[in-house]
Amino acid sequence: MSSNNFPEHIAIIMDGNGRWAENRGLKRTAGHEEGAKTVRNITIHSAKLGVKYLTLYAFSTENWNRPKLEIEYLMRLLEKYLKNELDIFLQNSIKFKAIGDISKFSKSLQNTIKDMEEKTKNAKGLTQILALNYGSKDEILRAIKKLNEKNLEVNEENFEACLDTAGIPNVDLLIRTSGEIRLSNYLLWQNAYAEMFFTTTLWPDFTTLEIEDIIEDFKKRQRRFGAV
Ligand code: FPP
Repeated sequence: MSSNNFPEHIAIIMDGNGRWAENRGLKRTAGHEEGAKTVRNITIHSAKLGVKYLTLYAFSTENWNRPKLEIEYLMRLLEKYLKNELDIFLQNSIKFKAIGDISKFSKSLQNTIKDMEEKTKNAKGLTQILALNYGSKDEILRAIKKLNEKNLEVNEENFEACLDTAGIPNVDLLIRTSGEIRLSNYLLWQNAYAEMFFTTTLWPDFTTLEIEDIIEDFKKRQRRFGAV
């Protein structure tokens, strides 16, 4: 949970890359390329602001239903992004972590993900968590299987320890771009008491100024966690 009304954990549904590109008469993939630049800017800026965890929905379990060429492009972009980002992460003390079932990705991408996690594991600043082949229902079912395998009592603590987000506090602030107002199978358990913010800005146009404004709005909200 956040202290002093500052969000310790921000989660973002980065939506609107396709529309951003189509509005400019470009291919959808150009929107993803531009979206990757926003990922970098927002991550570095969030680290500077003192956010501890930033979880970004980069590829959902449902995204496999997109055209094959778009999926291939996203996989290549992800691998390129991770390889390019290492120095920037180290310079800014940013730790990298993936959540989701990455076993469905190519061996090369899986290795790049693990390599990035390993090389940034001692960073003490923000943790960037990329949700990759992530779906909350899938995560919850995998957690239940783990609980069963370990023969653990079913309680909140044991369950959370079996989620991909084990050790990471629940989400304080959830942001979705592009005007859609839904959760799309994203961190259903972890968002239980999140404050939510929906903006019509398309992800490639999302700026450091806008995230600052959203954090200011968050600070004014009264979080009661079910109490009065
Ligand atoms: C939604 O836009 C975005 C995604 C499917 C995934 C997010 C991917 C990126 C931000 C780019 C790559 C990420 C990294 C970490 C390098 P959309 O295609 O659903 O847009 P639309 O709703 O306008 O069609």
